[in-house]
Amino acid sequence: MDSIIVRGNGALNGQIPIAGAKNACLTLMPATLLSEEPLTLTNAPRLSDIRTMTQLLRSLGAEVAAMQDGKVLAMTSHNISNHRADYDIVRKMRASILVLGPMLARDGHAIVSLPGGCAIGARPVDLHLQALEAMGAELELKEGYVHARAPGGRLRGGTIAFPFVSVGATENALMAATLAKGTTLIKNAAREPEIVDLTRCLRKMGAQISGEGTDTLTIEGVDRLNGATHPVVTDRIELGTYMLAPAICGGTVECLGGTIELVGAFCEKLDAAGVSVEETDLGLKVSRKNGRVRAVDVATEPFPGFPTDLQAQMMALLCTAEGTSVLEEKIFENRFMHAPELMRMGAKIEVHGGTARVTGVERLKGAPVMATDLRASVSLILAGLAAEGETIVNRVYHLDRGYERVEEKLGNVGAHIERVSGQ
Ligand code: EPZ
Repeated sequence: MDSIIVRGNGALNGQIPIAGAKNACLTLMPATLLSEEPLTLTNAPRLSDIRTMTQLLRSLGAEVAAMQDGKVLAMTSHNISNHRADYDIVRKMRASILVLGPMLARDGHAIVSLPGGCAIGARPVDLHLQALEAMGAELELKEGYVHARAPGGRLRGGTIAFPFVSVGATENALMAATLAKGTTLIKNAAREPEIVDLTRCLRKMGAQISGEGTDTLTIEGVDRLNGATHPVVTDRIELGTYMLAPAICGGTVECLGGTIELVGAFCEKLDAAGVSVEETDLGLKVSRKNGRVRAVDVATEPFPGFPTDLQAQMMALLCTAEGTSVLEEKIFENRFMHAPELMRMGAKIEVHGGTARVTGVERLKGAPVMATDLRASVSLILAGLAAEGETIVNRVYHLDRGYERVEEKLGNVGAHIERVSGQ
């Protein structure tokens, strides 16, 4: 297993290009199953999760060609030759559940393994299943697999009222509804930019959808969808992550392709902490207004609130802030596993359930630390950039799921960072 070694090296200066959004690409890719025509995605990120989704779609009979070093994904599902998504792929990546809605909508039947839990929580898929049942699907759980069928071979429009916001369940329901017979209403829908991006792509394919970006989506089902070419939206989580690099180290970094609308709530917290964000023609230019940042309180919420996927990274910054910050993780039940690792670096953090109290220290100290999930691993990299001495982040396969070429992007702005291949 590879490790990444980081040495605190003072201020960072330069430009970091932001890639296409992993979490948009992982829902755009299954959309190919909805149509016989080619669906081509541009600005796709080069990540291991994308390669896993490619493997899954190919196992179902889709043709997926990765071109231009993986930035273009040309996909065609002339037909779905296998309607079973196997556990060995689904357990590696939970987003695999997003093939369920499209397969059921296209062919009226599907067998998909339940994803199982992951490090940050149990992460059930009950809302995905309830949504499909609201569209007439008949579901049976057998030996860890969901066996789904649509009576008469076609889903019908229905009303779905989510008890709380779920990004994935909204995506599964939205994709399924595009081919259902009749109108589907999705209430308490997720409003994330990745949902808006999926809607734009589905509309290009001929879907009839309105309300994207609000909490209510209305979909008029159609008999078939066409192909399309669609650019993956910029990754707001990678953007926020790299905006924190100059915030924690000093210096000025311009994140190319970033826009304020993608990270509104996050920028409000950066401003309160004493970090300046300037919109330029190329993206967002970030620097600290003066020396040490100030403590701020953060609570994670569905979009447009503060993103849970930036909580770990923000904690790394607040470990060096002046004062005490309170971070409340309201989306996942176990998303503070980076805290004990940051404490190995001298951070002062008290975790009680879903709340972490962080009292900033002047400087963190480098140490060997363990990555536990995707966003926790990058928060340790950020902490290491500002720490005194050397930090070794182990198990960086977590990192490669969501961050392309992290050592190159940070190295180009002056960070001392290198990858060491494990045995
Ligand atoms: C998506 O996960 C993202 N993943 C996550 O990013 C992100 O943290 C999350 O949305 C919240 O923004 C992808 O898009 C591939 P949810 P998802 O359904 O869809 C509970 C990353 O780091 N829930 O919005 O799985 C769930 O357990 C990843 O890139 C149910 O109880 O998240 C969680 O507590 C991590 N039943 C809450 O809802 C369900 O059927 C929100 O989950 C579905 C979800």
